[in-house]
Amino acid sequence: MDFINQVEPWIGEEEKKAMKEYLDSGAWLTEFKKTREFEQMIADYVGSKYASVVNNGTVSLFTAVMALDIKNGDEVIVPDYTMIASANAVFLAGAKPILVDINPKNLCLDLEKTEKAITPKTKAIMLVTINGRYPEMEKFVELAKKHNLFLIEDAAQSLGSEYKGKKLGTFGIVGSFSFSPHKIITTGQGGALVTDDEELYKKILKMKDFGRPQGGVDYHEIMGCNFKFTDLQAVIGIEQIKKIDWRVKRKKEIYKLYNDLLKDIKEIEFIETNLENTAPWFIDILLDKEKKEKLISFLKEKGIGTRPFYPAIHTQPPYSWVKGNFENAEDISERGLWLPSSLSLKDEDIKYICDKIKEFFKG
Ligand SMILES: Cc1ncc(COP(=O)(O)O)c(C=O)c1O
Repeated sequence: MDFINQVEPWIGEEEKKAMKEYLDSGAWLTEFKKTREFEQMIADYVGSKYASVVNNGTVSLFTAVMALDIKNGDEVIVPDYTMIASANAVFLAGAKPILVDINPKNLCLDLEKTEKAITPKTKAIMLVTINGRYPEMEKFVELAKKHNLFLIEDAAQSLGSEYKGKKLGTFGIVGSFSFSPHKIITTGQGGALVTDDEELYKKILKMKDFGRPQGGVDYHEIMGCNFKFTDLQAVIGIEQIKKIDWRVKRKKEIYKLYNDLLKDIKEIEFIETNLENTAPWFIDILLDKEKKEKLISFLKEKGIGTRPFYPAIHTQPPYSWVKGNFENAEDISERGLWLPSSLSLKDEDIKYICDKIKEFFKG
């Protein structure tokens, strides 16, 4: 059996065919009609008025923060357990990321701790709906409203997941998605901003194109950069999003199969997951820290790749200045492990992986 990667992209024949057709059509490659079509598909799928695509999910968060005019002297609340890009995007905009502990039940920001962290400098809450899970979203919407803050939703891992029938990514003033190779859909690299706010959307369009009102015009109204997409990526993205229902369904099936096969192993803890709403991007389990290290090595020897959870952000060198109590983020980071999660996994592969995990715990 080939080595089973923790995750790999899933590209079908449709993407290859569409790319050939596009390249044969005299394409200009850069963002144009295909990009507009892809953006419309994203907006339609999540139910937002507008969608704008950019280079990646880090740039989309950075663009969101900048477009909301959050800058030097301002604070943005970010969970201590997330991919580091969430905090870095705030830092890049010149503002200060204020790290807050998570709720171990859903791995998202803890509501009470978030409220306690609000100061007169706070401008926004960056709510990361991690791995398609969510807190009580309306409470975060209310909290932001009560304190006159922007709610930015980092839904990089949550395309296709929803809360009470509304897609994740659409609860704040702006939501952000990532299309890196292991996300629910991929365009190689890529990110999207979604919003219902027309003014904000127009600002985002300018910001991603050097701050000018339209392409080909060298008059610049606001500060901007080149965060444009390409039609090459859009061609792939269109084919991927056409199959999103299947992709979301398969992610749920994969999670359920792992859960069924491993639920009797008392050393393994699954995080509560409502598969009606959540399409887990990665299969995540919690276990004793030392056992985790041993399991990683054991599985690697058997040809199975895994990946430990992100370290809590405050433990990483660029954030060594942060002090505070982050007991849940630390505990989750130390005990969390991602199992193989690719859409290309067959049920037999998952059974094989689970047999090996059982063998480890029996030993
Ligand atoms: C929660 C979260 N935010 C932001 C990002 C950054 O996205 P990208 O890799 O597209 O820059 C990621 C990427 O994994 C992520 O998981």
